Parts: sequence; structure tokens; C-alpha cells
Amino acid sequence: MSAVSKDAKRMTTHVLQRMKREGEKISMLTAYDFSMARIIDSAGIDVILVGDSASNVMAGHETTLPITLDQMIYHASSVIRGVKRSLVVVDLPFGSYQSNSDKALESAIRIMKESGAHAVKLEGGKKIKDSVKRIVSAGVPVMGHLGLTPQSIYKFGTYTVRAREEEEAKELIEDAKVLQKAGCFAIVLEKIPAELAKKVSETISIPTIGIGAGPGVDGQVLVSHDLFGLTKDFNPRFLRRYLDCYNEMENAVKAYIRDVKAKDFPNEKESY
Ligand code: KIV
Repeated sequence: MSAVSKDAKRMTTHVLQRMKREGEKISMLTAYDFSMARIIDSAGIDVILVGDSASNVMAGHETTLPITLDQMIYHASSVIRGVKRSLVVVDLPFGSYQSNSDKALESAIRIMKESGAHAVKLEGGKKIKDSVKRIVSAGVPVMGHLGLTPQSIYKFGTYTVRAREEEEAKELIEDAKVLQKAGCFAIVLEKIPAELAKKVSETISIPTIGIGAGPGVDGQVLVSHDLFGLTKDFNPRFLRRYLDCYNEMENAVKAYIRDVKAKDFPNEKESY
């Protein structure tokens, strides 16, 4: 049975902002396809992120850089078909917004028009301010993303915790204020010290959604493949696994192979 009542209202950016004001934590998970989106939505998640982490967990790339706008639109439209209640946010992929605000606006409009998604997410602070403003003024809600920004991995060189130093922490707080002023409805804070994430969350009035950012934020996001235990070699400190899908699925496949080889599948009841 679904955890979402039949008359549950669609999640909106305004409801998320009210949740922050009322102290209710926001739940967010990634999804990239119809089947996964249907399960996650019917369980009652607030926000589904069609993350460019699809590049890693769906396509097997080492980074998020190779995924294209067309591929993100394909994933997003599959997700949208499985969703009744959650707010669906889609990452603008690397190369689809960094060059200028015209390109950013065009990419955001393509995502909204061709996938039916409800909002887009961009990585970065001050540098993307104009793009955020233009996308928001075209009527498209924008989520920001600060801290560890995987699209800049080759600039930073590692996936370690960001903004440990005072200078970088100050800059991150400034970036969060700039994004709020530019019109973002929420900001993802990835892999930064818990104390800093709490400070950012207390400084701005829009919700912060943390991943590896401790408990002092307004909501939490995980990559669903990590939560389900499908990515068995990825074990960062911030990750809590709720299933051991990799081993469970491998065992199921082994059992199927055994049954086929033993001529036990299909049996009489499973045949016409
Ligand atoms: O692409 C993604 O999955 C993300 C989350 C880690 C926030 O951006």
C-alpha cells in the first residue's frame, strides 16, 4: 500500500519553505527512472532529484561530467511518469549553463518543456547569479548547490570535505546569501562541516538540504542507489544504508541460474 493518501497534495517550493519555517525536515532522494521514482514517490518523499549522479550510477562514468542535456531530459521524463506527489528537481548537466546566462536559460527551458519537471538545480555561487536570476524570472524554480560541487571535480582534485578553512567557509556563507537573493528556493549543501552547514541554515531563510553536512540543515538528500546498497564499493562516512540490494540481487540471480540449470524453472505451474 502507498504511504501517500489519495488526496495528498502535490509538493511545491512554497510548501518546502513553510516546512523550514515550521521546523519540519525535508526528505529528498535521487531517482533516474520510472520504476524507482514510483516507489520513492509512493513512499512519501518530499523531493525527487534527477541528479547528474546518473552519470555515475546509471552510466558507470567516474564523474558527473559526461552526462548530456538530452540524457538528463530522458531520465527526467521517465521519472515524471512515475511521480504523483513529489516535487521533481533536475540537474542542469556540466556544459549546459556555465558559458552564459542565455545558454543556462535555454537549457532550463528545455528541461521543463521536454520532461515536465518542476524545477532545476545548478552548481555554484556568485558566478551563476545572473543565470539563476534569468531562469527564475522565466518562471522556473531554481535549487542551488554549494560545498562539494562534483561538476568542478577537476578544479578541486578530490572529493574531500569542503570549506574547512575560514576563508572558504566565509565565501560559502556569502554564496548562499547571493543565491537566496537571486531567487533560489532552496540550496543543497554537500560535504561541508556540520557546524558551518548549521550556520548557513540559520543565516538564510530558504531551506538547506544537506548531504554529508550534518543534522543542522533543513532537510537531507542521498543518492538512492547508495541508500539501497546498490553501490557496494562507495562507503563515505555520511552514508546510512537501509538495504543490502547488491548482495540480495546477486543472490537472487545466482538462485535463478541454479534453478534454470537444474531444470527446475519453469515448473508445471509456471507453464501454459
Ligand atoms: O547529482 C546528485 O545526485 C546530487 C546530489 C548528491 C545532491 O547533486
